[in-house]
Amino acid sequence: MGRAATVVVLAAGQGTRMKTAGPKVLHPLCGRPVLGYVLDQARSLDPAQILVVVGHGGEAVRTWIEGAEPDARIRCVPQAEQLGTAHALRQCLPALSERPGPVVVLYGDMPLLRSESLAALCQAKERARAAAITATPRRSRGFGRIRRENGEFRGIVEEKDATPAELAIREVNVGVYAFAREDLVLLLPRLENRNAQGEYYLTDLPGRIVAHGGTVATVTLADENEAIGINDLSDLSEARAVVQERIHRAHLAAGVFLEDPATTYIDHGVEIGPGTRILPCTVIRAGVKIGAGCEVGPFTHLRPGTVLEDGAELGNFTEAKKAIVGKGTKAKHLTYLGDVRIGANANIGAGTIVANYDGKRKNQTDIGDRAFIGSGTVLIAPCRVGEGALTGGGAIVTKHSDIPPGDVWVGIPAKPLRSRKNAASREGGQAPEA
Ligand code: UD1
Ligand code: CA
Repeated sequence: MGRAATVVVLAAGQGTRMKTAGPKVLHPLCGRPVLGYVLDQARSLDPAQILVVVGHGGEAVRTWIEGAEPDARIRCVPQAEQLGTAHALRQCLPALSERPGPVVVLYGDMPLLRSESLAALCQAKERARAAAITATPRRSRGFGRIRRENGEFRGIVEEKDATPAELAIREVNVGVYAFAREDLVLLLPRLENRNAQGEYYLTDLPGRIVAHGGTVATVTLADENEAIGINDLSDLSEARAVVQERIHRAHLAAGVFLEDPATTYIDHGVEIGPGTRILPCTVIRAGVKIGAGCEVGPFTHLRPGTVLEDGAELGNFTEAKKAIVGKGTKAKHLTYLGDVRIGANANIGAGTIVANYDGKRKNQTDIGDRAFIGSGTVLIAPCRVGEGALTGGGAIVTKHSDIPPGDVWVGIPAKPLRSRKNAASREGGQAPEA
């Protein structure tokens, strides 16, 4: 693996083309902000420091990093005005580590680059003054073009400044570079902004290095998907599909059976144990943990904070949010489980609703091991159902109810029945077979 002294991530741009509020690097891609993937790229190079240039929405970016990606090596560097990518990098000059090794520059809107490509960039830097990553995608995406003479790298021209002949060049600038610290110190302050956009272009720097007698090595991506940059919402949805496919492949390789990946949505960071089956039309959000040998779907929505212990099964039209579902417990049909802890081997009948929200706050419900919740039960939180207790079909278990272990409660509002046998026959307490 390659190593860098410093990795700089440029993330101060406005993201005007997104046409959305907030900094573009915080847009979620499979449940994780775009910038998170770029920070992973940075960490893959094992740098001494990671400088993130922030500007537009900088406070939000800083707050998110501190909360979600705490790392002593990361430092945010402000760029008060967004005058271009070279200007952004210039803000980092005073902070650059003097440790030997290249300064790698990443753009915060390029989440799909693989660590292998960055390692190849650092290797290329060992045989040249600087190195850059290029690609030859089917469409140019508005990227800068790579100018060569006799095959040798000469420079980068931005699309808006390119001549028709340059526009025809198929090799484009991905926007990832490895530089020598001295070149940045010497040449960055000298770049000018006489171009179509009136910006200080970092893309001028490699050409300058060549003009000073240096060579610039290039690494060309084999997989053009790595070069998808997030400039507008259509890029974001294209990138999402690529990230989703990578996530699916990792689960499949780990023994998770996805019956139909095309209709299965699994966010970044979801843990799933081997032997678990995910059935079609299922959405699993970030922050969900699923054990081994579980079954989820079809048409199931698992939201953040949900944990399925081994062998649990959630089926058709079941939604779970912050639900801890114990070993072997089943909720197979038309159910909402919000803010609930359910023990092992419980059966949650069709149409059960855990009413967690009272209009002001979310309240917690506890359901014990082997409890049997009859079809159409509404459990109004906060409430508790003891081990092995049973509710009759259609029972409304009111707020603060505490059903003792083994008890049978039926009716509206639910009240204790003497024996379990009565409940099953008189109140129709049986749920459909799970
Ligand atoms: C840039 C490159 C282009 C390349 C493309 C591919 C330049 C001048 N052009 O164009 O050659 O093909 O990326 O990824 O570099 N940023 C700042 N401060 C600024 C301006 C931008 O931090 O003042 C950040 C942005 O947040 C973004 C990154 O730099 O993360 C790239 O900026 P963007 O405006 O997206 O550049 P492109 O037009 O995509
Ligand atoms: Ca971009």
